[in-house]
Amino acid sequence: MEIWPLRSLDYQAVADLWQQEQGIVVRDFDDSEAGFDRMIRHNPYLCLGLWEGDQLVGAALTGFDGRRAYIYHFIIAAHRRRNGLGKQLAAALDQAMSRKSINKAHLFVLHNNNDAKKFWCALDWYLREDVNVYSRNY
Ligand SMILES: CC(C)(COP(=O)(O)OP(=O)(O)OC[C@H]1O[C@@H](n2cnc3c(N)ncnc32)[C@H](O)[C@@H]1OP(=O)(O)O)[C@@H](O)C(=O)NCCC(=O)NCCS
Repeated sequence: MEIWPLRSLDYQAVADLWQQEQGIVVRDFDDSEAGFDRMIRHNPYLCLGLWEGDQLVGAALTGFDGRRAYIYHFIIAAHRRRNGLGKQLAAALDQAMSRKSINKAHLFVLHNNNDAKKFWCALDWYLREDVNVYSRNY
């Protein structure tokens, strides 16, 4: 198992992982090849892939805005879950964030995504009960 920053040429393998998954909301522009390129260019050391041999079996996109980091589309291939890979990918992200002196990160979990809720709780992420998320489309 190896964890490396994602590159443009990894787009199709990453998109294939997302396509399999209902817990990931794939968006037309953000998750297009151009959107992916924009994300990894802005956050070169915070967008990571996890490989077993030449197979991409995990990926996480993280964006840092100068104050907070946001983890998007964190995924482990369905056939490799419950083997500790998610935990290793999250630990690599922790290290990358610490190297950038990022002191707080957020992520969004769909209400019905119980696997993700249990996963993040097991890794000591805490649920915010004190905020609502507001969004606007441009
Ligand atoms: C959430 C996800 C990334 C977890 O990846 P994973 O590699 O299976 O997780 P790990 O094996 O590292 O699990 C670490 C710990 O988290 C907890 N955990 C993970 N998945 C769990 C599940 N389905 N049910 C209960 N606990 C779970 C366990 O405590 C586990 O430790 P254990 O296996 O020793 O009991 C994976 O299920 C996934 O890709 N889901 C689909 C995409 C998704 O929902 N992403 C999150 C969006 S925010």
